[in-house]
Amino acid sequence: MVKSEYQNSKELRVNNVLTIDGPSGVGKGTVARVMAQKLDWNLLDSGAIYRAFALAVEARGVNIADESALQKIAQTLDLEFKTEQDSELVSVFLEGRNVSKTLRTEQTGEIASKIASIGVVRTALLKRQQDFAQAPGLVADGRDMGTVVFADAPFKVFLTASAQERAKRRLKQLQAQGTMGIMSQILAEVVARDERDCSRKNSPLKPANDALIIDTTELSIDKVIAQVSELMKT
Ligand code: DC
Repeated sequence: MVKSEYQNSKELRVNNVLTIDGPSGVGKGTVARVMAQKLDWNLLDSGAIYRAFALAVEARGVNIADESALQKIAQTLDLEFKTEQDSELVSVFLEGRNVSKTLRTEQTGEIASKIASIGVVRTALLKRQQDFAQAPGLVADGRDMGTVVFADAPFKVFLTASAQERAKRRLKQLQAQGTMGIMSQILAEVVARDERDCSRKNSPLKPANDALIIDTTELSIDKVIAQVSELMKT
């Protein structure tokens, strides 16, 4: 688990994967980013892949019932993640265009959640996600990182928090970006997205049997990081 052990290896090292799954707005992204920085490991924001895919589908005006068209787009998705120089921020480029901002809208999340329930799409995007498992290690955040994409990972965390708390965090995030939000509307969106992500047939949102479940409703980020770091020592 020490960085130098694997520095020269580019092959997949399942021993060095930390998966962080959970529902929308639970803070997975922040915890994953901090852990990746702490460990000096690579970072996979799998939700960004589904969101970019949703943008590509929308841009082409493809009907989401047309599975073969969706499969083709997923297989040929021209997507690149670039870390900004002198910053830990990662920008997402779709067909050469920086889509980092558009990616984060509620509307894109909503479409991503709908398309992500389709089996052929998940299969087509699977290897792309697994390819992120490069030396020295990977922190992967999403819905099915611990159950499907990196089922053999030795470190698995599942974050939860009440829907009310997650909606509150989302509202704060929007306000910080200078965007207006209505609490009741955000809460309804959070609940609807949970329902869809948990009840789908393909890779539903659920904790892996061997995941550490952390309820973050009453916890600060620092406390969550401390628990995840503790898990990695065992
Ligand atoms: O984590 P996020 O909100 O950026 O993800 C957007 C949607 O993408 C989410 O509602 C469901 C889907 N998703 C998924 O099905 N599997 C993943 N591993 C990550 C995201």
